Amino acid sequence: MKRALVPGTFDPITAGHLDVISRAAQVFDEVVVSVAASKKKGPLFTLEERVALVKEATADLPNVSVVCFDGLLVDCARKYDAHAVVKGLRVVTDFEYEFQMTAMNYELSESLETFFIMSPPKYMYLSSSVVREISSMGGDVSKFVPACVDKALKKRFAPKQFEV
Ligand code: COA
Repeated sequence: MKRALVPGTFDPITAGHLDVISRAAQVFDEVVVSVAASKKKGPLFTLEERVALVKEATADLPNVSVVCFDGLLVDCARKYDAHAVVKGLRVVTDFEYEFQMTAMNYELSESLETFFIMSPPKYMYLSSSVVREISSMGGDVSKFVPACVDKALKKRFAPKQFEV
């Protein structure tokens, strides 16, 4: 059984993340999407909300499950008996950061392999923070995120109704 982790903050999950998850699901027997607490990032959505959105967005992928973790990625991989990590590579600037993380993860666990999937051009410049920013300013992000995320963002950034 070849099981891979697809880790990330997913604040929120985008079409780019979904592309990586579904490609990984075609290559590995099982994919465990691992939603990191990432408290230092001060996420817009709570961990529970992010997990729920990833679950809804991946509901049609039978070999994909969703978990959360708050600690080292190598420990999460051990816990779920995964020997591979799959990450997306978008622009060249991703490379140095990913290279450093992969090197450190090799130091921490030699048996954990990291694989990269190149994002298709349409998702090269997509990120969760860009989606959050556009949505917070009333822009349409529906083509960049799953429908459940579009709905959640609209609800989060809906103009407040004040009683007079
Ligand atoms: N499509 C769209 N966006 C993508 C993407 C893709 N394919 N791949 C990455 N991104 C974006 C995310 O949307 C996010 O955007 P934002 O910063 O604008 O919000 C950005 O890339 C960073 O993604 P994030 O999910 O936060 O991942 P990360 O690469 O920073 O790594 C963990 C997150 C959880 C994997 C990493 O922090 C980790 O391993 N943490 C555990 C602690 C640990 O083990 N540390 C030692 C390792 S060296």
